[in-house]
Amino acid sequence: DHLGVVAVGFSGGQCKPGTEAAPTALLSSGLLTQLSSDLGYTLHHDDTVHTYSSVLPASDPPHRGMKNPLSVSRVTEALSKQVYEHAKEGRMVLTLGGDHSIAIGTVSGVARGVKERTNKDISVIWVDAHADINTPETSDSGNVHGMPVAFLTGLARDEKFGWLDETMAVGGRLSTRKLVYIGLRDIDRGEKEILRREGVRAFSMHDIDRHGIGKVMDMALAHIGADTPIHLSFDVDALDPQWAPSTGTPVRGGLTLREGDFICECVHETGSLVAMDLVEVNPMLEEQGIDATVRAGVSLVRCALGDTLL
Ligand code: ARG
Ligand code: MN
Ligand code: MN
Ligand code: MN
Repeated sequence: DHLGVVAVGFSGGQCKPGTEAAPTALLSSGLLTQLSSDLGYTLHHDDTVHTYSSVLPASDPPHRGMKNPLSVSRVTEALSKQVYEHAKEGRMVLTLGGDHSIAIGTVSGVARGVKERTNKDISVIWVDAHADINTPETSDSGNVHGMPVAFLTGLARDEKFGWLDETMAVGGRLSTRKLVYIGLRDIDRGEKEILRREGVRAFSMHDIDRHGIGKVMDMALAHIGADTPIHLSFDVDALDPQWAPSTGTPVRGGLTLREGDFICECVHETGSLVAMDLVEVNPMLEEQGIDATVRAGVSLVRCALGDTLL
């Protein structure tokens, strides 16, 4: 199987430096060797951690309350094209972030590439403590990593993201009906309103406590349906901070390491995975040199790409 790998050193979707260092930390833990030697993937990787410095604006004042709007737009535009190139060749795409704003690029690029190749619409499984569906107006923080889902679904639009309108017009749009959340536990007031109004399928930590992760995955995959290409966007803060402490917006009461791996294993088992993002690892927030969060991230990727226990 062919796997496109894109490493994105970007942290402009939020305010804490460090997520730009995550791809290097993940790669130097030997992740790619494991994917090629153990799991047998043919890798397509340019050995570069992309910072897109050539497209970053000299000045980037807030706009509609959004911080670094132009930087996020330009980086995600370039990323969307890169990811699209892999997807349209029929490669699975692994993107190592970076903060979660980069999903504006990955999901739009994968959706467009898959649409062009197979005429199918992708579904997105968004595993996260947060819904990341704020519009610029509902956001308290102004951090665009809390808004990618609103942009991808067209619930938020902005002239600084004109490229996204064009990409959506050629297959890059995500329908709110094709979106499933798992792991939610910190949702802003405006986001709750949006989720209810749009009827988005969401499995919170409460649902996981009630049903168990096995049943939740059955329900999540049933909602998506067979034969639908799946993009897994995994925010490492979905895991409990006990397992993934080095992340910018940790929220207690999250998934165990095994629950996270299990989600990834179930998605792999469908045979429908077309792309995975791993985002919000922040090695600069690491405690005492124990790279628990990097190790957790590596494990999640391995599970999604087909590492089996037995
Ligand atoms: N809801 C909060 C906000 O909009 C937190 C978002 C956290 N997002 C993330 N990708 N970690 O600012
Ligand atoms: Mn999050
Ligand atoms: Mn908030
Ligand atoms: Mn997120």
